[in-house]
Amino acid sequence: MTSLSNQVAEAPDVRIIGPDEPSVWKQMNCAPFTFRHNLANHPLFDLAKLASLATAAVERGDPAKFGFRIKGGDAKFNDAPLRDRLFQAVERIEAGGAFFKLSSLEELDEDYGHILRKTIGEVEDITGLPLRQDIGYSGLSVFVASPNMVTPYHFDADTNFLFQVRGEKDVRLFDPKDRFILTEPEIERFYAGNPMSAIYRDEVLESGTVFHLDPGIAVHHPPLAPHIVSTGNNVSVSVSMWFILPPEIRQARIYQANFCLRLLGLQPLPPGRSKFQDRVKTAAFESLTASNPKSIDELLYSGINRLKAPFRAAERLVRGRAA
Ligand SMILES: [Fe+2]
Repeated sequence: MTSLSNQVAEAPDVRIIGPDEPSVWKQMNCAPFTFRHNLANHPLFDLAKLASLATAAVERGDPAKFGFRIKGGDAKFNDAPLRDRLFQAVERIEAGGAFFKLSSLEELDEDYGHILRKTIGEVEDITGLPLRQDIGYSGLSVFVASPNMVTPYHFDADTNFLFQVRGEKDVRLFDPKDRFILTEPEIERFYAGNPMSAIYRDEVLESGTVFHLDPGIAVHHPPLAPHIVSTGNNVSVSVSMWFILPPEIRQARIYQANFCLRLLGLQPLPPGRSKFQDRVKTAAFESLTASNPKSIDELLYSGINRLKAPFRAAERLVRGRAA
């Protein structure tokens, strides 16, 4: 018998997103929600398949983006060659204390690209939004984690869908529009290049909503929604499919301008308060951005990095003199 997930790989007409109430999708990019999917235990996300794909990419010297974490991982682990870190992380996944992330799998194997495009097409059909026309960058990443691992409080810039494929996960998501939870300076520092700018405070914990993910359940993360993720008592495999839309790119430029203004001692207006100021800030950072960005990082951060470059050079000079 062919499972539903195998049918997704074999038959282009089998849907990835399940038949949930379509009205829930009206909340996309505003509030988190769960939905059903047909990628549970899909063979493309089998641990052995992922390990061999990643190993082959490392051995070919592909500039793939992989991240590894091992509980108690010391400098020896962090300084080890990518191939050795990959082997150690895969070896320890079942035993515990290991985590790895394989990013941009759609660039390594067309099968993952097919799943990403099919999912975006289905989201477009459900929401009626012209996503394929508007999306600048999109990607598919896989997170593999040992039992009882916690990913600390943070937020991301993209529209994200996290599909649970194997094991269980709890995702606690917070309201990205609540400025008591997530302050303007935290967002400004994020867009200035600090991916861990979110500051966790115990008093906000209960305002987050916990979404329990089993294989076959996905959760939508709106852009900037802070989250804490913890795995259950088993190995977890989750697939993250993400994209970024023009409003989030414009918002990033405004926050980058606000980061600079705050450094000058000013109290900048958050996005949405002044159309004129928003336009000026966006245009200023648009003009600093690399003309043909080759990645989402270049698109979002090349402008602010260009501005920060002389300060970094001066800092290096001062440190060099002090040493
Ligand atoms: Fe995240």
